Amino acid sequence: MRTYLVTGGAGFIGSNYIHYMFRKYDNEIRIINVDKLTYAGNLENLKDIEGRENYTFVKADITDKEAIRKVFAENDIDRVVHFAAESHVDRSIKEPEVFVNTNVMGTCVMLNCAKEAWELPDGSFKEGKKFLHVSTDEVYGSLPDDGTSYFYETTPYCPHSPYSASKASSDFLVKAYIDTYHFPANITNCSNNYGPYQFPEKLIPLIINNALNGKALPVYGDGMNIRDWLYVDDHAKGIDMVQENGKLGETYNIGGHNERRNIQIIKTILETLQELLPDSDPRKANVSEDLITYVADRKGHDKRYAIAPDKIRKEVGWEPETTFEVGIKKTIKWYLEHQEWMERCISGDYQKYYEDMYKNR
Ligand code: NAD
Ligand code: TYD
Repeated sequence: MRTYLVTGGAGFIGSNYIHYMFRKYDNEIRIINVDKLTYAGNLENLKDIEGRENYTFVKADITDKEAIRKVFAENDIDRVVHFAAESHVDRSIKEPEVFVNTNVMGTCVMLNCAKEAWELPDGSFKEGKKFLHVSTDEVYGSLPDDGTSYFYETTPYCPHSPYSASKASSDFLVKAYIDTYHFPANITNCSNNYGPYQFPEKLIPLIINNALNGKALPVYGDGMNIRDWLYVDDHAKGIDMVQENGKLGETYNIGGHNERRNIQIIKTILETLQELLPDSDPRKANVSEDLITYVADRKGHDKRYAIAPDKIRKEVGWEPETTFEVGIKKTIKWYLEHQEWMERCISGDYQKYYEDMYKNR
């Protein structure tokens, strides 16, 4: 049975990836989820798989060398899928150091521990071992608002925020391990994800929650910035396919050609909420464009991101499955049906879940 070490599996994309992998492989794989449970880590996201024999949760910080070494020593890890990171641009502008520590130092520790566990005396690596570093298109910087330029794997790195600079640094470390040691790794650079379990500091869940509660919908700058949105399951599928069909040492961009201006996203959410909420729901009266509030722009706000996914399509055979129209409706429905999840996130109650869940272990 193949054993996966997933870092950051209690976060948004990591938890969706774990769900995806168990749906796809069921009992054919084993997953060890290593997560520090920062404010963004929520074990409630994985409640339904908690009892599986082939799933283990380890609370650990990826910068803690001894803790990570122990996971490798106690388990014969075949695959690493490295999600753990500080992920929010606005937080990185306020507190760059935690981003450098987790994203750069943490990635270095992960690489080193995997190398130590997988390297043979002649400097080659044990058969079948693979490390996938999950990264972002934000490392490429910002595109002009021309609708014709794209990020390719060959686009020079030009990060602007402390978040993207720290992710770029971690990508370079992975590239250095590939070039120096022939370390068996891949990097994926994906566009903005949306879907269930996203922490409500990010645009889409924040707008859904604020609209339902009749709170202002903060639009940074003029709302004309463009992001390229991908449904989170399509990202999970891309990661799995790169590990299965990709060529070791290569980088793959993941994106589904779905560019939207922020203001369009906000208006789509409002329209969809109006459509989905029954007239009897008192929250429906809150949902209005009057809530849209233009606020000061984000410092260094990147104008446009857009991925060219040609390489992953051609070489890996990946195609996105969920259109934005379907995905956004599914996502909004999920948040409407998981109002308590959202409330516990906002109140901070979700952080008690670990203590309750693991107190007798
Ligand atoms: P997230 O913030 O929702 O989750 C991050 C997870 O990592 C949390 O569970 C957190 O507890 C854990 N973590 C943080 N620091 C840790 C540490 N020091 N040790 C162990 N665990 C730690 O992030 P996300 O949106 O799920 O992003 C996951 C990865 O995907 C990140 O590497 C991010 O750069 C990348 N990515 C995100 C997007 C996006 O749109 N969200 C797009 C492309 C790439
Ligand atoms: P975000 O979800 O933080 O993702 P990223 O910065 O990684 O792309 O933001 C998406 C876009 O939405 C970005 O252009 C900033 C903008 N935004 C707002 O206008 N208002 C908000 O309250 C937030 C959180 C983001």
